[in-house]
Amino acid sequence: MTTEQTTSPPRAGVGIAAQGLSQSVRSGRQILTDISVSIAPGELVAIIGASGAGKTTLLEILSGVQRPVAGTVTYDGTTTAGTIGVVPQDDIIHSELPLARTLRYAAQLRLPSTTGPAEISDRVAEVLAELRLTDRAGTPVGLLSGGERKRASIAVELLTRPGVFFLDEPTSGLDPAIAVELLRALRALADTGATVVLTTHQVTDVDHCDRVVVLTRQGRLAFTGAPAAAREFFGLRSLLEVHLRLDEATQPAEWPDRFAEQRPAEPPPRSTDCDVAETSPRRVGRLRQWAVLSARNAEIVVRNRLTLAILLGSPLMVLGMFALLFRPGAFEPTRPSPTVTVMILFWIAFGGFFFGLTYGLLQICTELPILRRERLAGVRLVPYLLAKVAVLLPLLAVVDLALLGVLRGMDRLPPVGGADFAALYATLLLSSAAALALGLLCSAAVSDAAQATLMLPMLCFPQVLFVGAILPVPAMAVGGQWLSYAMSNRWAFEGLGHTAGVERLWRDGGSPLGPPLLATYGDSFSRPVWIDWLVLGGFVLLFLGAAWAVLLRRDPRRAS
Ligand SMILES: Nc1ncnc2c1ncn2[C@@H]1O[C@H](COP(=O)(O)OP(=O)(O)OP(=O)(O)O)[C@@H](O)[C@H]1O
Ligand SMILES: [Mg+2]
Repeated sequence: MTTEQTTSPPRAGVGIAAQGLSQSVRSGRQILTDISVSIAPGELVAIIGASGAGKTTLLEILSGVQRPVAGTVTYDGTTTAGTIGVVPQDDIIHSELPLARTLRYAAQLRLPSTTGPAEISDRVAEVLAELRLTDRAGTPVGLLSGGERKRASIAVELLTRPGVFFLDEPTSGLDPAIAVELLRALRALADTGATVVLTTHQVTDVDHCDRVVVLTRQGRLAFTGAPAAAREFFGLRSLLEVHLRLDEATQPAEWPDRFAEQRPAEPPPRSTDCDVAETSPRRVGRLRQWAVLSARNAEIVVRNRLTLAILLGSPLMVLGMFALLFRPGAFEPTRPSPTVTVMILFWIAFGGFFFGLTYGLLQICTELPILRRERLAGVRLVPYLLAKVAVLLPLLAVVDLALLGVLRGMDRLPPVGGADFAALYATLLLSSAAALALGLLCSAAVSDAAQATLMLPMLCFPQVLFVGAILPVPAMAVGGQWLSYAMSNRWAFEGLGHTAGVERLWRDGGSPLGPPLLATYGDSFSRPVWIDWLVLGGFVLLFLGAAWAVLLRRDPRRAS
């Protein structure tokens, strides 16, 4: 196999100088100690060491994802690296989308806003060719082989033609032939001028590299230099045994000390005294980010037919159950059934809440690694969250309208006129929006789908118990009454009740149950509905704001 020839213009490689890097974790344990390495522009560099030696940590510090507790990193003598490509260990691109679509969205999020559609198509085609993925352009990412997916993940970063690439274990999990092919692709990248730094457990990968950085188990530097010089230094024919050699040392610092003694003096890096580099110049405006992310979310929903069927189908099933459960005519003005009207209104409110919550709950936790990576590429959280709302809220609007429309058509709701129907709809939709925001908040706070699913009952129970339908608010214990204020569903239920005119219906409807029931509910339904709307709107803002704050706290740049 020949090393591929690329048509890309040479990149401006970047030299990296790390001086005295140390890192410790919260418990106080030191995981890296005094690491100094110089990497020349266009070098292909492997960081090796035992598991837990600190390879990922070093890579993240070099790429600016983590801040070290001590030491500096400079790129060509400055602390600003320009464009950096960071390829994490996991395959983290949406599996539903065809590769070319994925790259297109990635390009729209990463390339300057002035880049036109034709230019974006050209760039995507170039990158596909460069990583020899052209014939896979139409394949959904989830169906690519492991090696192809790794290359696809690299392709995403290649779009911006970065001068430096950082890859965490790009070859792990690949069969040896595919690993070699991937290294050749990285070699080709370095040959076009990019500086490429990777971590690896495959010592054979080192043979393709210009430089190897060896870490001891204790996170100290045992060697940095050419692979041949490393073999000579450790007295080995092959670096395969380097870990054994390090472990044979009587003192943990034996090899680092030996290396420090004989280390040729490298020219001290020109360093300016400031922070880790700002690696993601934000070139794409918030509005465009929102538009691109919304389009991508919509395409993901539409392409995943099963998800779409569940999103739309489960509310239809619930609607069918309501139709089976409730008899027509409960709101009949001359012969109302007050207890049935409470249940109908409560379950409609709860339906709107439940659909919103379940729509939001899996949205973020299932793509946290993607978000993390895109945050590094400059994606902002507000457009990210609003792009979720932009796609899910219209779906909820359809579902809520179907729920109210069908129940109204089947005489399960009072025969309200257009304005009141619109008011019922507005209440339900706002309630769904608040629940959607709550779902997004929880999704942002947990780490995976299993945890999110476990939260579902915890979120739903209080929204049943403390709403004031099953037990009227005035009849609750004091604590419950206070808690009921925090239930978005309470405001939806009472708003629906107000618009449906339950007070009048129960008082004047001629049912002997009406007046005493009304007395137990106090003034639950007296409030003008716009107050309920204000409260529900407040919940939407509160939950979205909290989701934003939670995601900000999880920001990769805050790590360390
Ligand atoms: N946020 C953290 N909190 C506590 N300990 C951490 C944290 N991050 C890393 N560590 C610890 O620091 C050490 C180095 O971790 P790192 O992930 O850099 O190792 P590694 O060489 O990449 O390992 P592997 O080869 O298994 O990927 C490990 O012992 C790890 O448990
Ligand atoms: Mg690692």
